[in-house]
Amino acid sequence: MQSAKDYIQTNKDRFLQELIELLKIPSISADSAYKNAVIETAQAVRDRLQEAGCDAVEICETPGYPIVYGEKMVDPQLPTVLVYGHYDVQPPDPLDLWHSPPFEPVIKKTDKHPDGAIFARGACDDKGQMYMHVKALEYMTQTGQLPCNVKFMIEGEEEVGSESLGWFVERNQEKLSNDVILISDTGMIANDIPSITTGLRGLSYVEVEVTGPNRDLHSGLYGGAVANPINVLTKMIASLHDENNHITIPGFYDKVEELSLEERAKMAEAPFDKEAYKQALDIDDVYGEKGYTTNERNSIRPTLDVNGIWGGYIGEGAKTVIASKAYAKISMRLVPDQNWEEITELFKNHFESIAPQGVTVQVHPHHGGQAYVTPIDSLGYRAASKAYEATFGNTPIPQRSGGSIPIVALFEKELKSKTILMGFGLDSDAIHSPNEHFGVWNYLKGIETIPQFYHYFTKMSN
Ligand code: BES
Ligand code: MN
Ligand code: MN
Repeated sequence: MQSAKDYIQTNKDRFLQELIELLKIPSISADSAYKNAVIETAQAVRDRLQEAGCDAVEICETPGYPIVYGEKMVDPQLPTVLVYGHYDVQPPDPLDLWHSPPFEPVIKKTDKHPDGAIFARGACDDKGQMYMHVKALEYMTQTGQLPCNVKFMIEGEEEVGSESLGWFVERNQEKLSNDVILISDTGMIANDIPSITTGLRGLSYVEVEVTGPNRDLHSGLYGGAVANPINVLTKMIASLHDENNHITIPGFYDKVEELSLEERAKMAEAPFDKEAYKQALDIDDVYGEKGYTTNERNSIRPTLDVNGIWGGYIGEGAKTVIASKAYAKISMRLVPDQNWEEITELFKNHFESIAPQGVTVQVHPHHGGQAYVTPIDSLGYRAASKAYEATFGNTPIPQRSGGSIPIVALFEKELKSKTILMGFGLDSDAIHSPNEHFGVWNYLKGIETIPQFYHYFTKMSN
């Protein structure tokens, strides 16, 4: 029987070419100008799933972008793996910082990827990682080695909050029934240090609007005599952290899960090179909440960050003006057991309460989701661990990530199953940034490792 390694070696160029074709379609879910491209991508994913051996593939309409569903049922007595991924991507801007156009994929070598990496928006997040599963399925069906049932659910709104997916999951619990959910939409520590993501942070995303005078004013005639919404907004935002970088919203930390010293010591065993971290980002020091390490700050601690801020005159030259309005987009990353709706409410009440006289403040909640942690003694985790051992030659390290995939907590609630996060990207792959890329080695290693998961999961289920 042909090994995955051999099969991948033989089909490598085609596997890369197929991914490149998928990456050429600009499936930007946030921008309605790309609606046709998003839908075209769903159709391409459906076709690829069919070719890879799914016997029931369909495009499921939702109030938003469609969900691509496919399955290959071997025997109802056998376990079922549900693969989730997303075919939508983040907007590519700022475009001028890309070294090659975001939707014209090219393969180039990098320090971290001496075998080359595919540069394109979505290469790592998540088309490349999602497509590893399609090609792993192809290998298993083509060589008669699919040991269990598999279902695919690939959505097109992950980057904008997965609203339609929640709608779809609630209505299709039977169809989506499974024994484990498998996702590749996270990262690992390094190519020689595999890790399995055991936690994701939750999220509360809000937009704030500060309104002062009813029109933009001459900053000489009115300056000093009326509240300037931009001055006020920045002051309000600055007050959201104290001198220790703790968040000042009353009640914000009330439900935060505090890890024991023992758990924190265990976490600290994961390799981390602070100097390399600083160097990679061109910063002279790290920054964050007092009393916590960098790895803790970006995984087990909640945060509040401005993601965008605007108002007033930002064109060429100087215009002397006091803007009527100022805006900011703010994300709060949450940890177990914070409830995102509760946190959104706390934020809204607090932010409105600190508004000074002379302005009005409005808070518009966007989307959110709960944090997620998966135990390391579950069948799924143990099977994943074995799979990495088989293909990487060493045991993966469990690691909590700072990112969010809000739908994962909902999967557990609605479908009652655990999610295993087998991510093959690196932090340096620049997801959501200009020049996003995905290592060719990582892509192929993922395709090699996934069938091992199926093998061990099925074997251990008996
Ligand atoms: N794949 C990422 C999340 C991720 C990346 C988790 C790396 C862990 C490691 C996902 O596509 C994403 O970007 N999620 C958003 C949240 C969403 C609601 C827009 C995020 O984390 O900002
Ligand atoms: Mn993603
Ligand atoms: Mn993303």
